[in-house]
Amino acid sequence: MAQRFSHMAETLTGSEIIRLGNEISRRIKAGERIFNLTIGDFDPGIFPIPNTLKRLIQECYDKGLTNYPPADGILELREAVSQFLNNSLKTGFKPSEIQVAGGARPLIYTIFRTLLDPGDAVVFPVPSWNNNHYCHLVGARPLVVQTLPEDNFMPRAQQLEPLLREATLLALCSPLNPTGTSFTRQQLQEICGLVLEENRRRKSGQKPLYLLYDQIYWPLMPSDLEHHHPLALLPDLAPFTVYVDGISKSLAATGLRVGWASGPEPLIQRMRAILGHIGAWAPRAEQSAVADYLGRSSEVSEFLQHINREISSRQNAFYEGLKGLQDKGYPVQVIQPTGAIYLSVRWAVRGAQTPAGKVLHTASDIAEYLLAEASVAVVPFTAFGLPPDTDWFRISVGTCRLQDIPEILESIENSLSHLSFLAN
Ligand SMILES: Cc1ncc(COP(=O)(O)O)c(C=O)c1O
Repeated sequence: MAQRFSHMAETLTGSEIIRLGNEISRRIKAGERIFNLTIGDFDPGIFPIPNTLKRLIQECYDKGLTNYPPADGILELREAVSQFLNNSLKTGFKPSEIQVAGGARPLIYTIFRTLLDPGDAVVFPVPSWNNNHYCHLVGARPLVVQTLPEDNFMPRAQQLEPLLREATLLALCSPLNPTGTSFTRQQLQEICGLVLEENRRRKSGQKPLYLLYDQIYWPLMPSDLEHHHPLALLPDLAPFTVYVDGISKSLAATGLRVGWASGPEPLIQRMRAILGHIGAWAPRAEQSAVADYLGRSSEVSEFLQHINREISSRQNAFYEGLKGLQDKGYPVQVIQPTGAIYLSVRWAVRGAQTPAGKVLHTASDIAEYLLAEASVAVVPFTAFGLPPDTDWFRISVGTCRLQDIPEILESIENSLSHLSFLAN
């Protein structure tokens, strides 16, 4: 007899990015030489976690910190996180306004669970990461805004405005996965103004319009740029705003599983109750070690400077190289990255014919061609909510060695030079 599951489970689609990444890893293990630029993760051989953090974790296990942590996260970590955020981002979070969990994912899920009833609307821009899946998990109604390359794929206030009336949640992220771009002060300020205005309009007893601000990449920005966030621009948004953050990206520590949300205490308390049942806690030893590490401000900022230099040098090498191809007349477009570990790249080759005679129609045709002909694996923006005819892609630099970039660019150039463009 065929097994049956919940409607939600039977209709949930897995992460396209993880599927693609696994497939590439399988082929690499089987001996193929592929430049894998698909995965939003770090190669620990290239981007190790801070040495001190590693030592502190080992010491915590030696001390026997292996029992259940408290459901909200250990106090030392919530204190360290609030200080870290308050010092770096000029926020005013108390430890009671911080909720710790096993990475950002369970926190995002819990925020959706806490705020949304089935059928409630969530506004989010695409391309963006996983908002569609979180909507599906809780039965929320996605209201999607497609952003434009000329806006660096960040949403404009005018695009969001018509949808906010009926929404319970606006989900934003900056710096943004998959684009490697971030909000300017003005862009975010205008959006924050709309959220406040909408909340002032709502009657008492009505659910407010909440703002989820995923800023997990905020420490990963070029040194001459500032990370903008809602409460710095509009402190009155505090009762409606919840941030998601953690060590996964900034400390190259995706496998350690320590994340935190910060927001108004009543919301955090509800989240705590839900997370207590889910039990997606960060391990106690990791929590204790991260608390200790975050307190070492000069070491933290030295590490962040180091990782930023490493990431920026890779992003810049790709940016300059791809721009060089564009200048040579190849059908390539690239957006200057302003954060995270990604670049947005366009291969404007829809309609072109491969040496094997195949015409490239969709994003996945283009991705397959690049993989077969250039041994370069990238993720189409279809995985982040754009339609199949998009020709924009995400490059991730987290598993890339700087010295490989010239060869990757050469390979891309060769693959492009083998395409023929049919006359219309
Ligand atoms: C924007 C964004 N938020 C959250 C996450 C998840 O972070 P974590 O690994 O801490 O669950 C990711 C992971 O790729 C991400 O890109």
